[in-house]
Amino acid sequence: MKYKLALFGGQKTILPEKARFNWPVITDEVEAVVMKQLHESVSIYNRSGIFEEFENNFADYHGRKKGLLFNSGTSAIYSMFEGIGLGPGDEVICPTYTLFATVSPMMMTGARPVFCDCREDGNINPDEIVKKITAKTKAVIVTHMWGIPCQMDVISEICSQHKLALLEDCSHAHGASYQGRKVGTFGSAAAWSLQGQKIISGGEGGIMLTDTDSIYNRALLLGHYNKRCKQEIPESFQLSGFSQTGFGQKFRAHPLAIAMANQQFSHLDEWVCQKSQFAKQYIAELGSCRFLTMPQFHDSQPSWYAFVMQYNEASANGVKIEKFVEALQAEGLSEVDMPGSTCPIHNLPLFVAPEQVFPRLYENKQTNISDFPIAEKFYNLAIKIPVWAFPQDAEVVVAYIKGFQKVISVVENEPKTLT
Ligand SMILES: Cc1ncc(COP(=O)(O)O)c(C=O)c1O
Repeated sequence: MKYKLALFGGQKTILPEKARFNWPVITDEVEAVVMKQLHESVSIYNRSGIFEEFENNFADYHGRKKGLLFNSGTSAIYSMFEGIGLGPGDEVICPTYTLFATVSPMMMTGARPVFCDCREDGNINPDEIVKKITAKTKAVIVTHMWGIPCQMDVISEICSQHKLALLEDCSHAHGASYQGRKVGTFGSAAAWSLQGQKIISGGEGGIMLTDTDSIYNRALLLGHYNKRCKQEIPESFQLSGFSQTGFGQKFRAHPLAIAMANQQFSHLDEWVCQKSQFAKQYIAELGSCRFLTMPQFHDSQPSWYAFVMQYNEASANGVKIEKFVEALQAEGLSEVDMPGSTCPIHNLPLFVAPEQVFPRLYENKQTNISDFPIAEKFYNLAIKIPVWAFPQDAEVVVAYIKGFQKVISVVENEPKTLT
């Protein structure tokens, strides 16, 4: 054996603690903006201060008219569904391969998700969208999985032909673009999570962008009652009389979180640029391995929220994916992961039996659920590694590549040791 795998007592490629992906990185600059905000204000009732600053920055970057902050990506997504006025009897076409929170907020409106399979790249398949359109379809929601943009030209065309609202969950895709256009600018509205692991993070938080006044006003009423609704909703809007109470809920963000997110946002382009270089390096060094398929992207600039490869068991000389991953982790590559919660979601109880949770909204079980073989396959064969964002992370990137190359060479030359 050329190198002894750490799995069998050989030397690790890297110490596991050095292989960690720590995100977000709390710099002096982050501490300073959070401390400043702490002394300025910890609760903002209207559109002012750090909320106004970040909403303007984020909307301007995307060339969109309006931005509205929320306490999570989930509530920002919910605001899109309420924004377009969904209700019982409506259907929304959505991916099955996504985090459940792309779809779950819709259940509060009584609308039914109609799931679609994905393409080989993990993103919703436009051909499947077309097949699922019925007279009840009101909208399509897409997720740019792992930061790789969906085929937005084709999907936009389908939605405009069929007069459907197009919604984007950009929670993995801050700063990504498709055919030179930023994701989050293709549909009626778009939402981003600002949760702790996200590229732009406040620890918790979310933001929704739209150009449509009625979506914005309804989103305000959903989660920003009283002062902000009174400040912003014009009397001419048909629901302006509800400004004091809104729809009864409060989903406002925390100013400390947004001070942090705003500071992070000022680095977005440089991080996406550095991540792209490291992603290119992974592809250049690992792309020739015949049992790993690198992330697939065309006409686009991914954000590289994560680097998700596909493991082709048929070409891996009988070595199972779990064993391959175990050998990589034993090499010290502590972040190598088979994503668990981000999985095909159509069989989750919330989507199969919504009538048990919301009997007031759903009369019966979901009936239109079929098999989604590409999504199942993508999920079962996905191996995820982080993509670092700083030039000084070059060493850890090289260590990951070396660790992969070491295990790959054993799979290719001495597979029996791993079966
Ligand atoms: C694709 C996707 N959508 C939605 C969410 C929900 O965002 P949050 O955790 O901020 O509510 C996440 C968060 O992980 C996500 O990955």
